[in-house]
Amino acid sequence: MKRIILVGFMGCGKSTLGKKIAAQLNISFIDSDIEIQNHYNKSIGEIFAEQGESQFREIEREYIEALDLREDFILATGGGMPCFGNNMDLLNETGTTFYMERSAKELTHRLVHAKKQRPLIVGMTEEELLSFVEDRLILREEYYKKATVVLSRDEQNPDAIQNYLNHLLPDFYQKS
Ligand code: S3P
Repeated sequence: MKRIILVGFMGCGKSTLGKKIAAQLNISFIDSDIEIQNHYNKSIGEIFAEQGESQFREIEREYIEALDLREDFILATGGGMPCFGNNMDLLNETGTTFYMERSAKELTHRLVHAKKQRPLIVGMTEEELLSFVEDRLILREEYYKKATVVLSRDEQNPDAIQNYLNHLLPDFYQKS
């Protein structure tokens, strides 16, 4: 089973790291936000604006349930996906989950400089953003920390992930 799932707060770098690992392990990279956008032919912002956050969370749950488990993949999840209903348990049943832990200050700094549009934080000042991230992170960490592996800042690279996989799934590289 070569299914790797990255979880963590928005802006922690799931997509960037996911693409690097996919290239190194030669497996496909998927990003739940991109797949949801493509499926509905709408941006995440439009889904939030038209249907509200709770409907988006429902869509995310359906997305996990519909994942094709015959395929190997590395999945970058939306930052809120693991934190609603039993999604984190579902993700743990689906593959090896890695939480990319980052401090609220670091996340805020990264989000201030990010290009991606995120409906939950649009229009916030840096100060508002820091307080938003601090509050949400406290609530969300309870879910994120159920991941198989909690990756410290220094371990958020493909080699560290490969080492964990070698340890957790010793036959990872032997099987085709
Ligand atoms: C969200 C994170 C976003 C996206 C949506 C909501 C969240 O994904 O799913 O804007 O609630 O944290 P990223 O973590 O990829 O930014």
